[in-house]
Amino acid sequence: MCGIVGYIGYREAYPILIKGLKRLEYRGYDSAGIMLYCGDDLAVTKTKGKVSDLEQKSHALAKSKAKIGIGHTRWATHGVPNDVNSHPHVSNSGKIALIHNGIIENYDSIKRELTKRGYVFHSDTDTEVLVNLIEDVKIKENVKLGKAVQIALQKVIGAYAIAVFDLDKPNELVVAKLGSPLAIGIGEDEFFIASDATPFIEFTNNALYLEDGEMAIVRLGREVRVRKIQDDVHVHNPEIQELELNLEQIEKGGYEHFMLKEIFEQPNAVRDTLRGRLQAEQGVVKMSSIDDYLEKFVRADRILIIACGTSWHAGLVAEYLFEDLARIPVEVEYASEFRYRNPVITSRDVVIAISQSGETADTLAAIKLAKERGAFVYGVCNVVGSSIARETHTGAYTHAGPEIGVASTKAFTTQLTVLSLIAAKMARAIGTISQSEFIAFLSALDQVPSKIETVLKTEESIKKIAEVYKDATNFLYLGRGYNFPVALEGALKLKEISYIHAEGYPAAEMKHGPIALIDEHMPVVVIAPKRGHYEKIVSNVQEIKARKGKIIAIVSKGDTDIANLADHVVEIPDIHEALTPMVTTVPLQILSYYIAVMRGCNVDQPRNLAKSVTVE
Ligand code: M6R
Repeated sequence: MCGIVGYIGYREAYPILIKGLKRLEYRGYDSAGIMLYCGDDLAVTKTKGKVSDLEQKSHALAKSKAKIGIGHTRWATHGVPNDVNSHPHVSNSGKIALIHNGIIENYDSIKRELTKRGYVFHSDTDTEVLVNLIEDVKIKENVKLGKAVQIALQKVIGAYAIAVFDLDKPNELVVAKLGSPLAIGIGEDEFFIASDATPFIEFTNNALYLEDGEMAIVRLGREVRVRKIQDDVHVHNPEIQELELNLEQIEKGGYEHFMLKEIFEQPNAVRDTLRGRLQAEQGVVKMSSIDDYLEKFVRADRILIIACGTSWHAGLVAEYLFEDLARIPVEVEYASEFRYRNPVITSRDVVIAISQSGETADTLAAIKLAKERGAFVYGVCNVVGSSIARETHTGAYTHAGPEIGVASTKAFTTQLTVLSLIAAKMARAIGTISQSEFIAFLSALDQVPSKIETVLKTEESIKKIAEVYKDATNFLYLGRGYNFPVALEGALKLKEISYIHAEGYPAAEMKHGPIALIDEHMPVVVIAPKRGHYEKIVSNVQEIKARKGKIIAIVSKGDTDIANLADHVVEIPDIHEALTPMVTTVPLQILSYYIAVMRGCNVDQPRNLAKSVTVE
């Protein structure tokens, strides 16, 4: 779970690499490093800390006119974050440099073998083992870099996206992929290597995404050659995609943080998700991935949803949606549990995998398992061309645009948009909802963007609430029905960016334990729109009030019952019950954002986290 970047061409490499690393910092940011090819030598600078620390430390490299280089931003797996463990790692001879995203699982046995053969290791990383293994193969087998990388990788168990440079072959970079993403940007007389396309989007729209088990030699003055790692077969005419991503989408656009920008992008992100798919008034949902496989959905015995984190919360909302509208049994599983618990899966199961990044290792492994056992697997992803998008039988993109802030915001609302479209379409096809109910639901969905816009206008009042509770040490989030998953999501947002302990609960479960926590120091966020189990939740609010808890209530506009009991109220516009999570989640995002900012936390890059969890 790291970011890798490389350049080979006619421009100065250093600024391209540094800017590229900054865009990839969402993948990890505990240390960073860079290597430039400066004539006869490799110049390497690495440091614990962020890319900005690397910039401070690499003044000498910044002056270099080098046209070839590689860079890395790390999220530590093997070895603590420090200068030595940072990438690039250089082989014992000083000739080969390598950057790596992934884990070499059998690194220890390889390390022991290499140590016996005289190799010396300076870091605790698996990556330093790999670079020396490549060197060992190169010398022993008397082969060139490309072949050495291939043979070495055949000995390796694990996951990787790597880029390798060798002083003996200074006009090429060798790259390989298994389980971690790797894109090659193809310009005129220049190539870019990166974990995703963001580092090179202002230079070229043409990208080649390596498939698992493929490697490529990227050499100046020649077409990229792709081959299989295991059997030496050449991949003829690898697909070069034309990307639609633009630079503005990945910059902050005047907001202080990506998270805030992404919160405010939600109305348009949801509009983009719906575009071309929804004709509410005509009662039409056009999704070729569903139309082509409608029979599978209609005849399914059950739907199994697999995901992690926020995407799992979207899955929980979908459970309510599918069961409520389409009357089909749904199970929602943490991908990390599913993959290791010998689940019962049949060919009549439809598995829906949800992932913003499309790279989450546990979700990817769970998909593979479900496919092996005969299930039809549908993906809901944001990142186009990602591993999950490619591994699933079919699926729908959320079209949310790049989400850079580690805390998921627009990913959640756009995932719910896609899942709502699918649930409604399926329900109508099965016949569990009438045409008029279908049209009413679609019209409500069409209005979600403007409802979110209304909620965004409450930003200032939420900021004031954040001011009151910024020093709290615990928070409780309560919701019922469709808004129980929103309570979990609200708590996750607060935990991950402000480091305040928070728990989400179904409101009625409170009296089975957590009510003991409530006293005058406990802020309790209650998600209580008028639609749903309103009367029940009013009673829950009274129970909190009776124990002096501080109540922050998310209520429907004009609500008086809860408003009279609560310490603070945020109003949301009225909306179809099944769609309330897309609206109620927004004030919780804003609340956690401002609390984190007021506590001086790094909102976009919270400690210990990374945007894509590409390790298990
Ligand atoms: O890319 P994915 O949707 O598969 O990521 C899953 C989780 O890692 C992710 O949602 C995580 O929980 C977020 N940081 C939460 O804000």
